[in-house]
Amino acid sequence: MDAHDQELLAAARAAWERAYAPYSRYAVGAALRGKSGRIYPGANVENAVYPLTICAERTAVVTAVSSGEREFTAIAVVTANGGTPCGACRQVLVEFAPGLRIIVADLDGHATVYALSELLPHSFDASKLP
Ligand code: THU
Repeated sequence: MDAHDQELLAAARAAWERAYAPYSRYAVGAALRGKSGRIYPGANVENAVYPLTICAERTAVVTAVSSGEREFTAIAVVTANGGTPCGACRQVLVEFAPGLRIIVADLDGHATVYALSELLPHSFDASKLP
């Protein structure tokens, strides 16, 4: 964990504050680092129609790709208890960044660094499509 990682974690913590999670009360903040060095934040956004909820990690990916960046080096994810990204988010992340570093932290700043390949081994990608 270097100063860049700490900056990314701080951005994820700030995004955590902006989570809209009135139903689960489980706020998630994410911050995705593009190869350009730019940081794209994301928070979970829930809905009264529960399945329409969008996870923080996917919010960050959609924000980044919509801004024109498609290659990423790391993502930081902050929750109250250090939860790891869900399976759907892992799959969306692997589309753009199979070599991604994933920094997972709780609100006290206790952080663990994973490789995406460790959290989503043998993943499906475009190379399998005809
Ligand atoms: N959530 C995320 O934002 N990211 C994950 O990877 C796990 C789950 C959100 C979705 C929902 O708003 C809340 O956490 C509880 O599932």
